[in-house]
Amino acid sequence: MIQTVAWMVSLFFMLVITVVFAFVALKSKEKQDYEPIKKKWYKARTFYGVTLVVLFLVITIYTLRELPYNQPVYSAGNDPTIVDVEALQFGWNISDTEFKVGEPIEFHVTSADVTHGFGIYDEELNLIAQTQAMPEYTNKVFITFDKPGTYEILCLEYCGLAHHLMIGTIEVTE
Ligand code: CUA
Repeated sequence: MIQTVAWMVSLFFMLVITVVFAFVALKSKEKQDYEPIKKKWYKARTFYGVTLVVLFLVITIYTLRELPYNQPVYSAGNDPTIVDVEALQFGWNISDTEFKVGEPIEFHVTSADVTHGFGIYDEELNLIAQTQAMPEYTNKVFITFDKPGTYEILCLEYCGLAHHLMIGTIEVTE
C-alpha cells in the first residue's frame, strides 16, 4: 500500500519536473527585461520561504504534542512491573529477571559509569527493544513479551575493553 503511494507520488513529481524542464527549454530562446522578472521571483521566493516556515512550524508543533511516543496506557489494576536496570563496566544489574508472557513491564534503565546501550534480543538474536543507558538519566523501555523464552540483554554501545562481555539474560515463562 505505502509502496504504491510512494510510487504514485514519485511518478507525479517526475512528471512535474519534466513539464518544468520542457517549459524552460521551450522558452529559453525568448528575450525579456530582467528587472521585472527579478522583482516577481523575489516576491515568489519570499512567499515560498514564509509558507515553508509556517507550514513546518505547524507540523512540528502538532507532532511534538504526541511526545513521548509509544507511552502505553495501562488499564486499572493492570500496573506494569517496574524493573530497575543499571549498566556498568562490564555487566548488568537487573532488579528482576523472571517474567510472564503478557505481563506489562517497564525497564527503567540507567548507567553507573559511562554510556551503554540496553538491547533486548530474542532467542533468534533479533533485537526487539532498546534504549540508551546513560549516567544520571533514566530511560524507559515499555514491553510486554508475547513469547516465552530466554532473552538476552546485550550492550549496544562500545563502552570499553570488555564491552562484548556485557551479556545478561531474562526468562519469560507462560
Ligand atoms: Cu556497555 Cu558496551
